[in-house]
Amino acid sequence: MLIPLVDLKAQHQQIADELQQRFERLFENTEFILGEEVASFEHEFAGFCGVKHCVGVANGTDALEMMLRAVDVANGDEVIVPANSFIATAAAVVRAGAVPRFADSDPETHLVDVQTVAQQINRCTKAIVPVHLYGQIAPMEELKALADQTGVLLLEDAAHAQGARHHKQGIGSIGLEAATSFYPSKNLGGYGDGGAVLTNSDDVAAAVRALRNHGSETKYHHPRVGFNSRLDAIQAVVLSAKLKHLAHWSEARRQAARRYDELLSELDAVTLPVTLPGNEHVWHLYVVRVPRRDAVLRKLNEAGIGAAPHYPLTIHLQGAFKHLCHKRGDFPVAEAASEQVLSIPIFPEITVEQQIYVVSELQRALSKVG
Ligand SMILES: Cc1ncc(COP(=O)(O)O)c(C=O)c1O
Repeated sequence: MLIPLVDLKAQHQQIADELQQRFERLFENTEFILGEEVASFEHEFAGFCGVKHCVGVANGTDALEMMLRAVDVANGDEVIVPANSFIATAAAVVRAGAVPRFADSDPETHLVDVQTVAQQINRCTKAIVPVHLYGQIAPMEELKALADQTGVLLLEDAAHAQGARHHKQGIGSIGLEAATSFYPSKNLGGYGDGGAVLTNSDDVAAAVRALRNHGSETKYHHPRVGFNSRLDAIQAVVLSAKLKHLAHWSEARRQAARRYDELLSELDAVTLPVTLPGNEHVWHLYVVRVPRRDAVLRKLNEAGIGAAPHYPLTIHLQGAFKHLCHKRGDFPVAEAASEQVLSIPIFPEITVEQQIYVVSELQRALSKVG
């Protein structure tokens, strides 16, 4: 049996007819850049997340950089990010001209550890960017208290977490602003690249709207240098069609996660994921910890299962950040996790049979690698 990490074909079938009609309408009106489709998707998605503004951009990495630039993060500033994330979280800080400072992970949830964030704060710290890793909200209440106490901005990397909530609060509503990605495999993914910044702040939204469009609010007037980074109308059509399904897709992911919890509870070698109290998880990834991860991963891949490690190398040890002179041991919890984490297939349409197959192959792999 072949089971991908995420099955995009199954999602497409649910919106294929609607897309056909909406694409035809778009091809007729040819409003490909920043037209009605983009505006109406932004309005719908802001409503879905419970924030005032959504500004659609070309990808999640640009969204992160514009999120930082919108609050004037620049040369000389430091921004705290988790050591355990995709490189984009830290790369955006560098691209904005600032220096990333890393924080370690919580050993159970893999979310950023608040104590180690606190240790990194100094007079150059401008912002903290926690990541709502794997689909659950980072410990925002503690981080907000810390940010308020120290006068640092609290922003969010919500690339994994469209639809996630903490006590009913969605992405972009606890921090000043959130950046998200519509990369195809995300919980809300386009048919190409896309991203957005979400915020309740009128000023931040206006700044990102200008930044994404060459720094311009009025055509051919450019008070600052910006980007050419807008969400395409074609992507907005896809995202708007998918958004109607997102709430029940998230519920299906939660059901699949509960089923894995049950099926895997028999396997002593497997450490199950932990959800923080008050979090409505959207299970972008279902991440377990296993011994001899790389060997187990190979066996699963050989059995046709699209398992993957998120992430196999922490950001502070990446070649791109060699100049920051970090070494192994600087963020021991995140480093240990990077050798053990294993994401197994989860997507709304996954069947009970597929999940049983994944678990039985995982059991078999564990017994073979000893
Ligand atoms: C946590 C995280 N942040 C940011 C990004 C960047 O998004 P994009 O690929 O749309 O640039 C990703 C993408 O995978 C991600 O996983």
